[in-house]
Amino acid sequence: GKVAVLLGGCSAEREVSLMSGAAVLEALRRAGVDAHPFDPAERDLCDLKREGFARAFIALHGRGGEDGTLQGALEWLRIPYTGSGVLASALAMDKWRTKLLWQAQGLPTPPALRLTDEDFAAGPEAVSRRVCEALALPVFVKPVHEGSSMGATRVEREEDLWPALEAARRFDGEVLVERFIAGREITIGFLGDQPLPAIEIIAPRGRYDYHNKYFSDETRYLCPAPLPEALAVRLAELTMRSARALGCRGWGRIDLLLEGEDPYLLEMNTAPGMTSHSLVPLAARALGIEFEALCLRILEEARC
Ligand code: DAL
Ligand code: MG
Repeated sequence: GKVAVLLGGCSAEREVSLMSGAAVLEALRRAGVDAHPFDPAERDLCDLKREGFARAFIALHGRGGEDGTLQGALEWLRIPYTGSGVLASALAMDKWRTKLLWQAQGLPTPPALRLTDEDFAAGPEAVSRRVCEALALPVFVKPVHEGSSMGATRVEREEDLWPALEAARRFDGEVLVERFIAGREITIGFLGDQPLPAIEIIAPRGRYDYHNKYFSDETRYLCPAPLPEALAVRLAELTMRSARALGCRGWGRIDLLLEGEDPYLLEMNTAPGMTSHSLVPLAARALGIEFEALCLRILEEARC
């Protein structure tokens, strides 16, 4: 039956989603699937039912697409969709609560603080004191519910802390402040129960920010990441444990830092990027799974 590729949406990652969605749409069509673009920012979701769509491929990133709300609507419409369900999607969009769950399961993740409007009301000095006492600088400041490095800043000096917090607050009422881990940047995708080969990201000047994620030709990706075999196995297991802790299904990607041989989980992406610069497609290709086959595999696991 007809497949809707959900793309665009209203989140800060709209632009990324349009790129992911266009790539997925084209690939599914090449593979003979009757696929059509559908932007929930411009259309009524109930049209999916009215127009007889049998399944939805979620190529939306961020709030309103990756955070469980859309998944809930599709459950209600009884339209099978790709990727994680309502709860896992909502949890993974929330970096703070993801961290709490991982910590509860003994999975490694950088120590962090969450700051809300109530904390900010105490003013810059009180907030700065709290951060420096709890974590010490440098730290990484990010909105709790964002992706693609939106509103994220590394802070080395105390005078830069408040502006970084303000920048994150423009995206979100909740801000995560994490201890900065000076580690190698690693990302690992999974397809069903299968971890994909790890990728190491080497970004210009060590900054894997929005530009270097999607538009730079200088960012280098090593796939498979040059890791000792035993460590690669350990990271693959960690990937699946971190996914199971959140109840993820279908596919996804974790981002982590590696300090020596110690991994620190940063976040789970339940609708990872599928752009030309994205990482799940790269890792799948290393296993011989080309982009079209990857899109078909993800689509086959659609549930509701
Ligand atoms: N949030 C972006 C799309 C990613 O993780 O790939
Ligand atoms: Mg993300």
